[in-house]
Amino acid sequence: MILGAVRCDWRQQTAEEYFQTKDDTKFHLIHAVHVLYNVEDHDSILRNMWEQLADGGYMFVVMQSDKGGWGGLRHNLWEKFGQGDRLKTWFRTSDDVNQCLDRRGISYVTSVDEMNINVSECVKEDSEAGELLLDFLTHTPYVSSEPEIKATALEYIRGNSSSVDGKIFFNAFDELILSSKTFTKQ
Ligand SMILES: C[S@@+](CC[C@H](N)C(=O)[O-])C[C@H]1O[C@@H](n2cnc3c(N)ncnc32)[C@H](O)[C@@H]1O
Repeated sequence: MILGAVRCDWRQQTAEEYFQTKDDTKFHLIHAVHVLYNVEDHDSILRNMWEQLADGGYMFVVMQSDKGGWGGLRHNLWEKFGQGDRLKTWFRTSDDVNQCLDRRGISYVTSVDEMNINVSECVKEDSEAGELLLDFLTHTPYVSSEPEIKATALEYIRGNSSSVDGKIFFNAFDELILSSKTFTKQ
C-alpha cells in the first residue's frame, strides 16, 4: 500500500469534540469501526460524518450485528435490565445505524463477518480471564457482583455458542456498512 501522499493529522479527541470545531475539511474515507456504541448520540455523529465526506467518498461503519450472538446479547440484557432510552446507551447494534441511514435516505451495502469469540474461560468457575471477558461482553464492570445479569448473560452465551475441539465459541457477527457519496454533477 502506498501511503506516501497521505498527510496525517493525529488528534486525541472524541468524535463529539472533533465535530464541534466545525472544521470544513472534506474526507474521502470516514470510518467508525466499533466506535458508535461509545458516542453520546450516534445519529448526530453519523450526520456529521456524512456531511464531511467529499463527493465520491466512502463512509464505513462496523457494529455488532443484530443477527449475531453479541448483538442478540445486547438486546437480551437490555430487555431484562435496561432502563431509559436504549439508543442513548452502549446497547446499540448495526440495525440502529442502518435505521439512521434509512431515515436520511442514504443508501448503503452491508456484509456480515463471522467473528466467533472463545468464551471457554467464561464458563469456568473462578477464572479471572473469564470474568474479565464477561465484563467486556456485557459491558458491566465486575459483572460477578450482579448475579442476575451474569446468569442471564451466561445462559444466553451458552445458547448461542458452538463447541469445537473442547473449546466454546460464542457466535458473534460484525456487520460492515458501506455508503458512498455520489459525485456531484458539474
Ligand atoms: C472497541 S474500540 C474499537 C477500536 C478500533 N476501531 C478497532 O476496531 O479495533 C472503541 C474505540 O472507540 C473510541 N471511542 C470511545 N468513545 C469515543 C468517542 N466519543 N468518540 C470517538 N471515539 C471514541 C475508544 O477510544 C476506542 O478506541
